[in-house]
Amino acid sequence: MSHKLLAGKKGIIFGALDSQSIAWNTAQSIFNEGGEIVLTNAPVALRMGSIKDLASSINSPVIAADATSIDDLENLIDFAISHFGGKLDFVLHSIGMSVNLRKGKEYTDLNYDWMTKGWDISAVSFHKLLQTLYKKDAMNPWGSIVALSYIAAQRTFPNYNDMADNKAYLESIARSFGYFMGKDKKVRVNTISQSPTPTTAGQGVKGLDQFLKYAQKTSPLGNASAKECADYTVMMFSDYTRKVTLQNLYHDGGFSSVGVSQEVIDSIQEK
Ligand SMILES: NC(=O)c1ccc[n+]([C@@H]2O[C@H](COP(=O)([O-])OP(=O)(O)OC[C@H]3O[C@@H](n4cnc5c(N)ncnc54)[C@H](O)[C@@H]3O)[C@@H](O)[C@H]2O)c1
Repeated sequence: MSHKLLAGKKGIIFGALDSQSIAWNTAQSIFNEGGEIVLTNAPVALRMGSIKDLASSINSPVIAADATSIDDLENLIDFAISHFGGKLDFVLHSIGMSVNLRKGKEYTDLNYDWMTKGWDISAVSFHKLLQTLYKKDAMNPWGSIVALSYIAAQRTFPNYNDMADNKAYLESIARSFGYFMGKDKKVRVNTISQSPTPTTAGQGVKGLDQFLKYAQKTSPLGNASAKECADYTVMMFSDYTRKVTLQNLYHDGGFSSVGVSQEVIDSIQEK
């Protein structure tokens, strides 16, 4: 399926690590829709992941950037503008990491240095990215910026640990900075709140397999895949969503509006 919805549009995709990554799938969908991309990831991810395979299949350069470093962000944006010969139309922030989650530290016993690091990578990096784009006047009018979130920002999921707080902060930055991006640059900023998805970051969450099944049973349309999230992001980067901004958009098969489904009731019925 290709409608060339993004023909002539150019942008930066953060966070493609391997073929399961939501960002990887999004880069492929954008390419299929005629968009041009500069790929980026943290230096360590460039060494360990397989981003170069993706890059060669979609004719994209890859620039290393730690999303918490203003110097790296400035260098990346300068490169992208000179590579494209003009400003950007879209940017995807698909970045998340909790050191506490990764090291199995419980929410009731957090290491605060790790919390600060995870918060910087998962949430504050989005402010740093938006501020760097804003100061450099790097976006074309009617451009679109998306970051990926999860419903633990609104509801309690005990195993999601301090990532829940990071996502709440990320969504708030989208609204707060999105105001200035809209007023001053005519650029929209939104978060997409995606279903649980089996990726490297997702697998850091304890009990992900059972949780995927629970979400699948709860969502009337079933869990949204990485590819489906990619297609939704294409729509958010297209000219068909020009007045959608400051929103947290649920892309979860209906999970966020369901109290309990019949399948879940049936699965816990006493025998
Ligand atoms: N997998 C899920 O269940 C799920 C659900 C909802 C939202 N999300 C969100 O989707 C986004 C993408 O995650 P994913 O599931 O595709 O997993 P992923 O592991 O493939 O992607 C996470 C990316 O973050 C990058 N990253 C980490 N630290 C970085 C840094 N300092 N600078 C730049 N990049 C850095 C990693 O290298 C990796 O590419 C994340 O924001 C995640 O929280 C995931």
